[in-house]
Amino acid sequence: MKAVRPSHGGALNSATKKYQIKKSDWLDLSTGINPNGWPVPEIPTAVYNRLPETDDGLIECAQDYYQNPDLITIAGSQEAIQLIPKVLSELNLIPTRPRVGLVTPAYAEHEFSWQLARAEIMHLTSDNIENHLPELNVLVLINPNNPSGHLYSPETLQLWQQQLSRHKGFMIIDEAFMDCTPQYSLLPHTDFNQAYNLIVLRSVGKFFGLAGIRAGFMAAPPKVLENFEFFQGPWSVSHPARYVLKQALNDTPWIEQNRQRLIQQSDRLEKLLIVFIHNFDQQAKLSGSQLFKTVFTHKALSLFDHLAHQGILTRLLDNSSGVRFGLPADTQQFDRLSRALTHWFL
Ligand SMILES: Cc1ncc(COP(=O)(O)O)c(C=O)c1O
Repeated sequence: MKAVRPSHGGALNSATKKYQIKKSDWLDLSTGINPNGWPVPEIPTAVYNRLPETDDGLIECAQDYYQNPDLITIAGSQEAIQLIPKVLSELNLIPTRPRVGLVTPAYAEHEFSWQLARAEIMHLTSDNIENHLPELNVLVLINPNNPSGHLYSPETLQLWQQQLSRHKGFMIIDEAFMDCTPQYSLLPHTDFNQAYNLIVLRSVGKFFGLAGIRAGFMAAPPKVLENFEFFQGPWSVSHPARYVLKQALNDTPWIEQNRQRLIQQSDRLEKLLIVFIHNFDQQAKLSGSQLFKTVFTHKALSLFDHLAHQGILTRLLDNSSGVRFGLPADTQQFDRLSRALTHWFL
């Protein structure tokens, strides 16, 4: 089967053309990016002018924030998603045609990347993973999952990682949306000198709202990190990105305030959607994380289209099984969404 490049939220230009609504008039809720991201200060010209240096103190900030010493910088978790199959294969840590288990629906770039690596893909659900562990060479999970928000406990994941290690299976955990629930992260609990079969990815695009700088972190056993850096090349993360990140990861007051703020905003979005789906589709299911909520409904396509005609861009899941909502930034945006949803019944 030919691999098909996944589509993503955030495509405002194409929505502008399709719905003939001016770009500035859209309310873009199609991503899980914090709408009130870390406030980036002015960046000195020298930062643009000079090449990045990797001993600039950024890794120390990340080690502190993520509570693990075995980390490297990456050009967004996306870079790792694309390179991991190659790195594991070069190190002979997986067979030529690995059997890879993934939960669907999920951020589709993982599956795409393993398809390109000629893996045999097994589609799993969050409640049948354990049964399939003995058959898998690689298990890839997003925690919390995008778009369902399903959270796996560190204890469960550690158990699965140990079970996989018995037959040299690998586990990849994508913690892109983990920042509001740090108690669920594997990183503070992991010693990568022992967990030789684990990789954890962290994004700064979601919680910090810094998706545009294309940076992130990967934690893994030292041998995997070393090999990854070899293929990654010298300047994968730009100097402006490193400059901004060092400050963002150190900004503890902002981090703590924003965890609280996102929890409140996501509760508000959840309440709004609960009221809406009660009349819209009583079979609909609502779930999500602090950075997005997903309505799983058979009427997803018409809901997406209804909102788009009113200039609100959401994310229609690939098989039209649901609509994912990012967080509105403020009361005005909440009111606009609320009016657009109410309009469905008029
Ligand atoms: C689950 C998940 N992982 C990774 C990414 C890639 O993010 P980034 O490359 O900005 O870290 C995304 C982007 O939407 C995502 O949803």
